Amino acid sequence: MKRGHDPMKAGEGSGGAAASAGFGPVRGPEGIDGRAGCDPDFRAFPSKAPGARSPGPRGTMASGGRRGLFAGIALAAFVAACAPENPSGGESAPTTDAAPEFDPSLPPHSPARFGFGSAASEERIARWDIDVKPDGEGLPPGNGSVAEGAAIYERSCMQCHGPTGTEGPNDRLVATGSWDEWPPGRAIGAFWPWATTIFDYTRRAMPQLEPGTLTDDETYAVVAYILHLNGLLPADAVLDAPALAAIEMPARDRFVPDNRTGGSEIRE
Ligand code: HEC
Repeated sequence: MKRGHDPMKAGEGSGGAAASAGFGPVRGPEGIDGRAGCDPDFRAFPSKAPGARSPGPRGTMASGGRRGLFAGIALAAFVAACAPENPSGGESAPTTDAAPEFDPSLPPHSPARFGFGSAASEERIARWDIDVKPDGEGLPPGNGSVAEGAAIYERSCMQCHGPTGTEGPNDRLVATGSWDEWPPGRAIGAFWPWATTIFDYTRRAMPQLEPGTLTDDETYAVVAYILHLNGLLPADAVLDAPALAAIEMPARDRFVPDNRTGGSEIRE
């Protein structure tokens, strides 16, 4: 064992019991199997030295037969993986310094085109082209109410954003105080300059583990509910594209448009 890897010891780890019983890929020093592990000194299944302690619960007499079988399979794989690449065997061809010439032409029976991929259709591009601009450009048709949003929030958002949007464990969605309070003030109500961004972000990124699953109507509804939690919409409100774009966020004037023209100066 030159490499300090002792497969007998592997039996002590959680995956090791399986490995020493012959299940699963054997992780050598360079990773799982593969030619990289073709070290003639590296033996996946060392023959048991007389009197050696059995490596784990599976290394019992009862499983000895299976163990031998698996070891045999593994050994065959090892031998195959480590066979010389030159099938005729024997001495490998003398090497020269010159790299072999690469011939980029295809064999004569190759088709003119392989037909991989296809042109992106308008419909497929449209599925990615979903950005909503601050002024509301790009908002889809549809609508949703605060009440519908409350149900969606409870089902799909609350577990990460808390019962009232402030408890976490993930980001606060509600801030009704001052933006100067850090961190509670740096959430939607006191921080985001555009309400349209809540739609854009929620539709592309939330719920975090299954983004893209909300319909446009559901997105309007849950955005309406978040705005309601932030004190920016009444409980009976219904939100659609014009209504969302018309909302003036408290932090609107806290930001300047990033209209840099390639340099670092910002035009006021
Ligand atoms: C599995 C947990 C999880 C769920 C469920 C979830 N979110 Fe989130 N949400 C996050 C995390 C994490 C972030 C922060 C992501 C980041 O910063 O990259 C986040 C960020 C946000 C933000 C941006 C907050 C900010 O100020 O930066 C909004 C808005 C949001 N989520 C809305 C929602 C809505 C609406 C739902 C339900 C439809 C939802 N989330 C469901 C985990 C979740």
